[in-house]
Amino acid sequence: MAWQRVGSVGDLSEGEMMEVEIGDQSIAIYRLDDGFFATDNICTHAFAKLTEGVLDDGCVECPLHAGIFDVRSGEALDGPVEDDLKVFPTKVEGDDILIDA
Ligand code: FES
Repeated sequence: MAWQRVGSVGDLSEGEMMEVEIGDQSIAIYRLDDGFFATDNICTHAFAKLTEGVLDDGCVECPLHAGIFDVRSGEALDGPVEDDLKVFPTKVEGDDILIDA
């Protein structure tokens, strides 16, 4: 495990998402009612950043062709997307959001 700090709990309100970069990797961090989740930020269909889309009810909608993913599991649910998103373990320590990327 290589936990890395990607932000503070206060950086996101429930229902919000943000992009973080680790090396050359773009990762999306989401805050839902049951905690923080992290996935690859690049859609598996073509090149679009999911953090520029819409987060609703635990699902993110891609801004380009409206593909939909479950952000907890990474599962591709609807639209033209077929491949699931990679998900990363997250945890909170004090005020810090950590992910294992
Ligand atoms: S790039 Fe995301 S649905 Fe096409």
